[in-house]
Amino acid sequence: MSKFNKLSLADVEEEGFKPLRKTYSEGGNKTQYSSAKPGSFKFKDPLTDFFKYIDYREEVYVQRLREAVAIKSVSAWPDHRPEIMKMMDWCQKWIDKLGGDSELYENPLKEQKLDDGTTIPLPPILLGQFGNDPKKKTVCVYGHLDVQPALLSDGWNTEPFELTEIDGKLFGRGSTDDKGPALSWLWMVEAFNELKMDLPVNIKMIYEGMEEYGSEGMFEAVNALAKPGKFLDDVDFFCISDNYWLGKNKPCLTYGLRGMAYFEVGVECGAQDLHSGVYGGTVHEAMIDLVRLMGSLVDPDGKILVDGVMKDVAAVTEEEEKMYETIDFDPEEYKKECGVANIGKGELLHKTKKELLMARWRFPTLSLHGIEGAFSDPGAKTVIPRKVMGKFSLRLVPDQNPKQIADVVTAHLEKEFEKLNSPNKMWVKAHHGAKAWLSSTDHPNYEAAKKAVENVFGQTPDMTREGGSIPIATWLEDATQMNVLLLPVGACDDMAHSQNEKFNKVNMMNAIKVLGVYLHEIAKIKGPKPSDCKCEPLSMEDMMIPGAFARGFRCKCEI
Ligand code: BES
Ligand code: MN
Ligand code: MN
Repeated sequence: MSKFNKLSLADVEEEGFKPLRKTYSEGGNKTQYSSAKPGSFKFKDPLTDFFKYIDYREEVYVQRLREAVAIKSVSAWPDHRPEIMKMMDWCQKWIDKLGGDSELYENPLKEQKLDDGTTIPLPPILLGQFGNDPKKKTVCVYGHLDVQPALLSDGWNTEPFELTEIDGKLFGRGSTDDKGPALSWLWMVEAFNELKMDLPVNIKMIYEGMEEYGSEGMFEAVNALAKPGKFLDDVDFFCISDNYWLGKNKPCLTYGLRGMAYFEVGVECGAQDLHSGVYGGTVHEAMIDLVRLMGSLVDPDGKILVDGVMKDVAAVTEEEEKMYETIDFDPEEYKKECGVANIGKGELLHKTKKELLMARWRFPTLSLHGIEGAFSDPGAKTVIPRKVMGKFSLRLVPDQNPKQIADVVTAHLEKEFEKLNSPNKMWVKAHHGAKAWLSSTDHPNYEAAKKAVENVFGQTPDMTREGGSIPIATWLEDATQMNVLLLPVGACDDMAHSQNEKFNKVNMMNAIKVLGVYLHEIAKIKGPKPSDCKCEPLSMEDMMIPGAFARGFRCKCEI
């Protein structure tokens, strides 16, 4: 029996789990070990050991994810702030246990101001580090340990904070967004440790606890940490696993995200709620104004009706047109994923693959989210709400500017309110805004990830963009000039933010593998470390190609 088998089996048994031998063949994974007995392998290279070790540990990883999901680290629930602290602590202990260095970095903004005027502490940012060898490159990973709210009564089939396995799917809030992927980095490090394999690069981790609530303080933190001599100063490559594949089986790498502009429009008509039978027909109802205002923003066919919104949207290039053809995406599958297939006429806003992808990735959209203050319980209540606030947001694309969008949206709502001739009080609040992000797929960071995906999954990843937003991708790139790669590990139907969020067990296992191989591939990149580059600052022209001309790539010192 090899040393490795003894080690891993003992370890698994120690934690109270039966060793498992399984074949991970879903999604074209070519790592197959199922028929062999422990100890009967002839290992070809260290990565075979690495894959095998991970395969044995499946139940251990599930159990740890179960522990993490049970911590209700919901950033939108102010009374649950201690749970975020607990989650940060839990993760920090793991970094320490695995031999890393860690620090809870105080949030630069310290406190969060709630709508009622009170303040509560913002959680610290968890910084971790494995290895500090100046000869090695440094990869920094970002993740978030907070989650969206979830209640069984929202329509979950299982308790959202109890990880529940059904048919190889691990259901639970945060399982895919983003606890599962964020923790995979740790289990990958653990596998290297246990196999006595040297980490091929230095790893840094920056994990936050307020992502789902607008990442308050992260912009300031990233900029402070990017200063000379600080935590991010020697980072050569960034990698973020916080988005999803375009389909269920085919892996992809993501080089674009949409930005975001979030708004509240409020109307107030009186000092208290009123009985509609007594007062209806005599007061100017706030909600009647509000639904008109909200209805004036967007057509039922998705067309945004705000003047000036499309002004800066980058034109579609010929090259881009062609790119959609080769991407693996099935509109019928997508229809099922959205859940529209069996509702009403079962139609989407667009029919073709290209139209659907363009609508998600490269055109702005406007969505209505909700009305605060409106009656929304089951049953019938005859009330006239005194004050209602509509919530909506736009997803932004290159080259839209959140500030310009806030201006035109505000002007639009003021103009529409004017038309209503209402005596009520109306206001518009622009919440968080973020620019879209677009990188270049021929960067060595992407090349390395592509090779890693090919190794683990036996297929070449599609290069995709995303409709969602991760503002920190832009912040990291702007503050450090280093390339950012999005390496999604979850499937398209994981249902982040929704009821029954899940992470497939097979995706979790492959995630741990692919992250390790990615680091190997990064270590193989030739040339100086990007963070050592002493080239002239970028020209304005270079800057027009986001990500493509980051330091250390296509610069003079690469030669
Ligand atoms: N993991 C998501 C980002 C995401 C979602 C990327 C879907 C790609 C596809 C992240 O946790 C998230 O929810 N981001 C927010 C950001 C917002 C609060 C600025 C989002 O996209 O709504
Ligand atoms: Mn996320
Ligand atoms: Mn999210």
